[in-house]
Amino acid sequence: MSTQPIGIFDSGVGGTSIWKEIHSLIPNENTIYLADSKNAPYGPKGKDVIIDLSVKNTEHLLSKNCKLIVVACNTATTNAIEYLRANYNIPFIGIEPAIKPAALQTKTNTVGILATKGTLSSELFSKTSTLFANNIKVVEQIGNGIVELIESNQLHSEEMKLLLKVYLQPMIEANIDYLVLGCTHYPYLIPILIDLLPKHVKIIDSGEAVARQTKTILEQHNLLNSEMLKPKLEFYTNGNLDVMRSLLDGNFDIEYLDF
Ligand code: DGL
Repeated sequence: MSTQPIGIFDSGVGGTSIWKEIHSLIPNENTIYLADSKNAPYGPKGKDVIIDLSVKNTEHLLSKNCKLIVVACNTATTNAIEYLRANYNIPFIGIEPAIKPAALQTKTNTVGILATKGTLSSELFSKTSTLFANNIKVVEQIGNGIVELIESNQLHSEEMKLLLKVYLQPMIEANIDYLVLGCTHYPYLIPILIDLLPKHVKIIDSGEAVARQTKTILEQHNLLNSEMLKPKLEFYTNGNLDVMRSLLDGNFDIEYLDF
């Protein structure tokens, strides 16, 4: 059982930022990463469509015998994880914007959040933010276009910089001291964001917390891989292989798969 792989899926290449955290915390785990780039972005899609796509990805990972699934996508987590947990009999780990730590630590009582439309309009996000950020000001911004630029290999383009400048302006004017990244594609923006934000603004994302939670749940279910062999790391995409290769910074086998 414990040598079975961990399955990880995202609407595209963004969830590789989460795969990196997981692989660095529990390096002997076998993993299967699934990038549904053909259907990216999920953000503007309705809840029912996001559930259908999440089911498709889950079925695929289950057919490859995964012991646990990490939904490495805020949009899929906030819209579909409840459905997945209710319908499949394995543990699911999700990712949500780290609004709680930002709300607890802000000194200006103002935090910014950059996420997709699907995440910001979800019931789960609204519950979390009512619970933890009721007494502070939250400047929400939908990151329209960001996922598309990353998926088409334009992470370092001038267009990306211009887009981010526009999105950050209202947050800077409101005097945020924390910026929450609510999409797994966005950690790849951090070097650009650091350049654009005032020095005192801290950027937080949930990647590390998701990796810790994955380890905890594996421990609780007695599913941690006890074999200390070189792990099998599989990457599949139904999109562009070069985009994924450029983000993985390593020599990994990436396969095209029409799922
Ligand atoms: N990585 C996904 C997320 O965390 C991007 C969603 C999208 O495809 O719009 O929300």
